[in-house]
Amino acid sequence: MSYQPATIGTEDRTLEQLLRVDKLPSAVFSLSPAIGRAIIRLWYRYLTHIDPDEQVTLMNYGYAETGTDAPFPSLCREDEADRYCIQLYEHLTIGVDLKGSAVLEVGCGRGGGASFVARYPKPASLTGIDIVARAIDFCNRHYRTAGLTFARGDAVALGFGHGSFDAVINVGSSHYYRSMPCFLAEVRRALKPGGWFLFADFRKREEMPALRRQLVEAGFELVREADITDNIVRALEVDNDRKLALIQRRVPWLFRKTFKEFAATPGSATYDSFNQARWVYKSFVMKRGEITSPTPPQTKS
Ligand SMILES: C[S@@+](CC[C@H](N)C(=O)[O-])C[C@H]1O[C@@H](n2cnc3c(N)ncnc32)[C@H](O)[C@@H]1O
Repeated sequence: MSYQPATIGTEDRTLEQLLRVDKLPSAVFSLSPAIGRAIIRLWYRYLTHIDPDEQVTLMNYGYAETGTDAPFPSLCREDEADRYCIQLYEHLTIGVDLKGSAVLEVGCGRGGGASFVARYPKPASLTGIDIVARAIDFCNRHYRTAGLTFARGDAVALGFGHGSFDAVINVGSSHYYRSMPCFLAEVRRALKPGGWFLFADFRKREEMPALRRQLVEAGFELVREADITDNIVRALEVDNDRKLALIQRRVPWLFRKTFKEFAATPGSATYDSFNQARWVYKSFVMKRGEITSPTPPQTKS
């Protein structure tokens, strides 16, 4: 299928210019946080233009077994194409009984992970939120699963009542947030006492100890913690042909290099950062502890 340019608005035209930067998303980290956030929002808006038949529903780097892991359970045929991205959710939720519970996913993107959790572990309800309105419009159009709903929302101002959820899931999204302490305080508030916080994301190696400290200081008890960088690298390698084919089909040639960077395909600077362990990807299974958190952090807008 050839690429059909979609009608795009002013924000997206700005993005077309920004996309000529080669090393997104790594480049945005060297910009000011506000500019970086604006670029990321524009980036996700643009993604919605180039996938008219709604094939892309997951946007994480994936998770693949490295030999020592137990094999993952079988997936329905329609989920097979997204196996590696789904496996990151599977890895995070394994051993946690979500059946019949109320679950929130923050930073759900195009909802593929939320849809997997809603259909396999079968919580009573799953609410997916994302800051990008078009991603939420996509989810509301695309999914028809009982108990699965989506709404626009900001991770650092969730706005749910105290103790609304039994579990909060967050995958590959927190590195964009303007305040990690505010996000963690919001998650803690939204969770019931003893509720699960299932969290996976990457940081530069030297930043990881500070992230771990933030989790503990925010009042979460670490139940399981894993460095999954090797599993991410393996997934990037084994899922590469599928991603390259998608990029070749959908992305105008001018932006292909940028998309390869975004997808961390082998050969990109992002892939190298993981492969050489300069960036570390970790998963944390946590419980909301009983300690009362210190003074709530203030968000900067
Ligand atoms: C790499 S994608 C991952 C999406 C999804 N978790 C997945 O695995 O497919 C990161 C998502 O975080 C969202 N995001 C970034 N900042 C956010 C914020 N402040 N609040 C909520 N979502 C945010 C982005 O819009 C994007 O959809």
